Amino acid sequence: MANLLKLLPIMPEVIGLFSIPTEDHLNYKSEIESIMDSAPKELRCTNYRSDNLEHICNSRYQNIFKQFPSLKKLEESLRDYCVEYINKSGFICDQVVITDAWLNRAGLNAQQHSHLHYNSYLSGTYYINFDSQKHSQIIFYNQRLLNAAIHSPVIEIPVNTNQPTPFNSKEISINCKEGQVLIWKSHLNHGYKKNMVDNRLTMSFNVMPKVCTDGSTYSFSINDDNSL
Ligand SMILES: [Fe+2]
Repeated sequence: MANLLKLLPIMPEVIGLFSIPTEDHLNYKSEIESIMDSAPKELRCTNYRSDNLEHICNSRYQNIFKQFPSLKKLEESLRDYCVEYINKSGFICDQVVITDAWLNRAGLNAQQHSHLHYNSYLSGTYYINFDSQKHSQIIFYNQRLLNAAIHSPVIEIPVNTNQPTPFNSKEISINCKEGQVLIWKSHLNHGYKKNMVDNRLTMSFNVMPKVCTDGSTYSFSINDDNSL
């Protein structure tokens, strides 16, 4: 009796993976490591949920690209990647604004608990100093399986761990490498588990389409000024 024809995975999420040319990446890495070491203390903060996790420009009125114009070429590339991500996944947008961008240096045992980026359309990570075999990889959590404390009401039944499917995975890790840029929709829950070696250096950023419109009636545009 084989009456089941198919189980259909519908409406997948789209995540974009880009690669910065090696020579450009090495230049950015050198510049960013220098910023990481020399940035003034008013641009620095530590993560309130994790030990040994330091940020640069991770406050409301800060943006690493506004603070350090030497990274202008990187900013332009990240904007181009976001427009390509949007267009290739079938949506219309020809200009985006990087509304927030900050650096993260994760030491030994640092971690990012599951979270999402509010007030943003796209988010991304640029892997600056990253050993893909040793540093923690980003994890996306299956929001259809999140527990009722987060998304209520919801009904849960046990996962058959002996039968992994595209439908019952609670989390998916993306295998990124140094010099790559990962882009996703900001509402996706993500994080990473305890970092097993020192100096996991990344840049995070939030992105909005310059013009947000339903295509016919309603719209607004983003002012690229985070001092407001
Ligand atoms: Fe994040």
